[in-house]
Amino acid sequence: MRVAEIFETMEYGPAPESAAPANDWLDAHERRFGMFVVNPASGKPIARVTQASEADVDNAVAAARRAFAGWSEAPGHTRARYLYALARQVQKHARWLAVLETLDNGKPIRETRDIDIPLVARHFYHHAGWAQLMRSELDGSEPVGVVGQIIPWNFPLLMLAWKVAPALAMGNTVVLKPAEWTSLTALAFAEICREIDLPPGVFNVVTGDGAVGELIVRHPGIDKIAFTGSTEVGRLIRQATAGSGKKLSLELGGKSPFVVFDDADLDSVVEGVVDAIWFNQGQVCCAGSRLLVQEGVAPRLIEKLRARMEKLRVGDPLDKAIDIGAIVAPAQLQKIERLVEQGRAEGATLWQPSWACPAEGYFFPPTLFTEVAPAATIAQVEIFGPVLVSTTFRTPAEAVALANNTRYGLAASVWSEDVNLALDVARQIKAGVVWINSTNVFDAASGFGGYRESGFGREGGKEGLYEYVKPQVAGRRSQDDEIYGGIPAPADEQPYEGNGGGNGETELKTQHSKLKTPAIDRTPKHYIGGKQARPDSGYSRPVYDPRGRLVGEWAGQTGHGRAQILYYIAENLSARATELARRLIATTGASEDAAAQEVDATIDRLFTYAAWADKYDGAIHGTPLRAVTLAVPEPIGVIAIVCPDEHPLLACVASMAAAICVGNTVVLVPSERHPLAAADLYQVLDTSDLPGGVVNIVTGARDALAKVLAEHNDVDAIWYFGGVAGSAMVERASASNLKQTWVSYGEPRQWLRPAPRESAIFLRHATQIKNIWVPYGA
Ligand code: NAI
Repeated sequence: MRVAEIFETMEYGPAPESAAPANDWLDAHERRFGMFVVNPASGKPIARVTQASEADVDNAVAAARRAFAGWSEAPGHTRARYLYALARQVQKHARWLAVLETLDNGKPIRETRDIDIPLVARHFYHHAGWAQLMRSELDGSEPVGVVGQIIPWNFPLLMLAWKVAPALAMGNTVVLKPAEWTSLTALAFAEICREIDLPPGVFNVVTGDGAVGELIVRHPGIDKIAFTGSTEVGRLIRQATAGSGKKLSLELGGKSPFVVFDDADLDSVVEGVVDAIWFNQGQVCCAGSRLLVQEGVAPRLIEKLRARMEKLRVGDPLDKAIDIGAIVAPAQLQKIERLVEQGRAEGATLWQPSWACPAEGYFFPPTLFTEVAPAATIAQVEIFGPVLVSTTFRTPAEAVALANNTRYGLAASVWSEDVNLALDVARQIKAGVVWINSTNVFDAASGFGGYRESGFGREGGKEGLYEYVKPQVAGRRSQDDEIYGGIPAPADEQPYEGNGGGNGETELKTQHSKLKTPAIDRTPKHYIGGKQARPDSGYSRPVYDPRGRLVGEWAGQTGHGRAQILYYIAENLSARATELARRLIATTGASEDAAAQEVDATIDRLFTYAAWADKYDGAIHGTPLRAVTLAVPEPIGVIAIVCPDEHPLLACVASMAAAICVGNTVVLVPSERHPLAAADLYQVLDTSDLPGGVVNIVTGARDALAKVLAEHNDVDAIWYFGGVAGSAMVERASASNLKQTWVSYGEPRQWLRPAPRESAIFLRHATQIKNIWVPYGA
């Protein structure tokens, strides 16, 4: 072919990457690790991996347990050096790892070489930094223990990195199970660990199918499970871990909206769609699989998309000029074919390019459905393949309603040249990550994770570290304490020590002695429409969510506005302090002193959360792109709070205040034995300008109420302060809609004298981080 002809046709030939480095490594192992591993691009076996036995899992857990003491107590700097070494070795072996991943998974070499493996290295570098900074930035935290991690096949080594890097950085040890179809890079990583002399037992890998995953999930020697995979298995794991005390994070499925407004740059949109749904053959949990287009530009966009699809190349994933590789396994290919058939049967219009896929191997062409009804199966079910479904909308409100019309909430893309519109829509879509004018961008510095049935917990960013730590048990020391000495908590996190300093118990008394603490300023009120009204209350108007629930009014209120109401509650409570104390004495038998202390502490806690209401900020993550990545703490929604019997007033108000100060609405179940304190409370709330519906109080048999709330589809999270059996019941019952749970397993909480950073713990449970990526460039 002549150069002039090439300019004319823009044809290009194959550019295969050599498989030699991966083949050499496989040969060195005589291609035997146990079960068969198949190359999806040819359908031929390439190696065998082992189905681990129960004894293998026991051994791995025991090794991790043995290694835990030394690893967790090592200085952060020591762990940082190991993580740094892992990052360096991954980078040095990048080519071998990229080829091995492509052979095993079928994804294009362009992606493993330019996306997966560089991001793996970046994760270890970034978390080497967190290991170094743990002592100063996560003061008061300690590692969880031995962590069981179960990962899927779509990003085998990257998912390993997302899980292993933060776990090791925070001082945990790991037992990891890769997916049965794609175990090779995890085994290669284990060799890298040996190469850098990572202490034995810190990282363990066991291979095998779901049965091995189940052994890990149920193992009593494991303190936390981190899972990525299907919502079905996530739900099973929630049920299996309920009541075990294991910490849990779940990163599950998605059906993410890709919203295009009529002022968007359509050529950029087309490339965005390619990255959203044809990246990794669409086998991406956050794939932009639902295209929502504003009506006026829909015909033009669909035409451009079809032209682009016609030019996509499907074929040998080792060819550097390939866009779409092979589907991971025949079972997955059949699932895609079945759903596509169903889409056609339900009346949507199907379009595929004119060319055919290679006959050998597991391939599926890029596919576009138009005129898809929002309730159609293909608009609701995760296909996990290169299949895009599209629908049109007219107004931004309709776009938001369609975007949220899913049981998932993992990610979203919003395309518009109008930054006001894009950010407004980004805030309204219920998803853990929103990309503006971009899609499928990831970085170790930015958190990733879902809402609703997409699971809970975050991976990446500072927010991801909290999945791998727990509050420090008093008296436990790490070598960092010897190196750095005790670092006092910031002033605003110190337990209340009265005005004169000194330690808790006696100083708390000085707080309510009224001698040193000034009285709370009181504002004379208007009396309007039969109730007291503060003269400085702001205007508000109701905002309804897609399901017609009145939530926006409270969440949409400014932090300042919410603070004012919490101060107002404190003010009204203080006016009735004597009456409330008398009620506590009469119902709980508390001494006069103890009752007065409880009332004072309740007011103190209202002040704490009023203070936080306009200060619980997010962050701008330092992702290495021309983008600002906004990590915004958002209220979870409706939180049910089941209060303990001890300190019936304080516990109830403190947890309520923590939840509502950041914009949640709550259903409170007060102490079953002493519910009258709550009756006094609603009289206080009635006169404090709290909008109707923000706080709801239901009294009765607490565990019966807790069960109803845990099972309720309109409750987004449940906090349960109670015994082991009740905690287990709440965790189990919550599996239906995978709501977030925070249960105490009968551990008493120091309500009167909270631990340092207590408010930070409550606020973390009251929020989840949404990461909004906003790229820029003229
Ligand atoms: P899966 O959820 O069954 O597998 C993920 C991991 O969990 C694998 O390591 C598997 O061995 C393990 N596992 C399976 N059953 C288990 C159990 N009972 N206890 C503990 N671990 C268990 O996903 P699968 O079957 O490979 O894919 C099915 C569908 O799930 C896909 O079509 C896709 O829709 C979705 N999926 C979503 C992913 C995501 O990233 N959100 C990743 C993989 C699949």
